[in-house]
Amino acid sequence: MHDNYHGAAVLEDLDVGLASDGDIEDILRVQEENQPEQGGSLSARFTQQWFKQAIDNSSLIVARSSSRVIGYVAFTSREAQAHVPIIQAMLKVCPNPGAYLHGPICVAQEFRGRGVASAMFVAQRAHMQHAPVMSFIRENNHASRKAHVAMGLQEVTGFEIGSVRYVVVSG
Ligand SMILES: CC(C)(COP(=O)(O)OP(=O)(O)OC[C@H]1O[C@@H](n2cnc3c(N)ncnc32)[C@H](O)[C@@H]1OP(=O)(O)O)[C@@H](O)C(=O)NCCC(=O)NCCS
Repeated sequence: MHDNYHGAAVLEDLDVGLASDGDIEDILRVQEENQPEQGGSLSARFTQQWFKQAIDNSSLIVARSSSRVIGYVAFTSREAQAHVPIIQAMLKVCPNPGAYLHGPICVAQEFRGRGVASAMFVAQRAHMQHAPVMSFIRENNHASRKAHVAMGLQEVTGFEIGSVRYVVVSG
């Protein structure tokens, strides 16, 4: 075992790759643990069907440790999400033609700060052949904002919906 520069143990058995149907139950568990009702900072809840579709489209990456899913990241084309009001609000302030949409991303709490999100993001960008990417983050989600800047994205602008402010990140 060796340590990364945060002092947290590196996950030596970390396995990052495209999700398969057998991962859905674990993904839903990680998503549920990170809902606001449990003190989490995810801003939406996606259905089992939504994750199944993302798997069928090869647009969901998971991180596994000891054969269990400890994190996931989805990515979608802007066309697939063009009807979603929050996506429309983001594209209005930042049209960014050609960029695909990154997120949601989530890592189980006990595995944070060990490079799991970064590893999934690297895999996602490679899978997308390093195409331009964008996303939005609640302005008060400082951990996620720091993580995304550390992963190489830039905060480019912001928007507000229902008195909640979001920053737009792109790279
Ligand atoms: C945001 C999240 C995905 C980051 O996952 P993670 O696996 O802990 O992130 P990593 O360990 O890969 O860290 C990546 C970088 O972000 C930084 N970072 C991560 N969490 C941080 C925090 N709480 N405070 C400051 N920096 C942080 C790390 O230091 C690292 O930067 P470095 O490599 O330059 O040191 C995770 O905190 C999470 O799942 N949060 C709950 C769900 C959520 O908010 N999702 C995002 C919604 S937009």
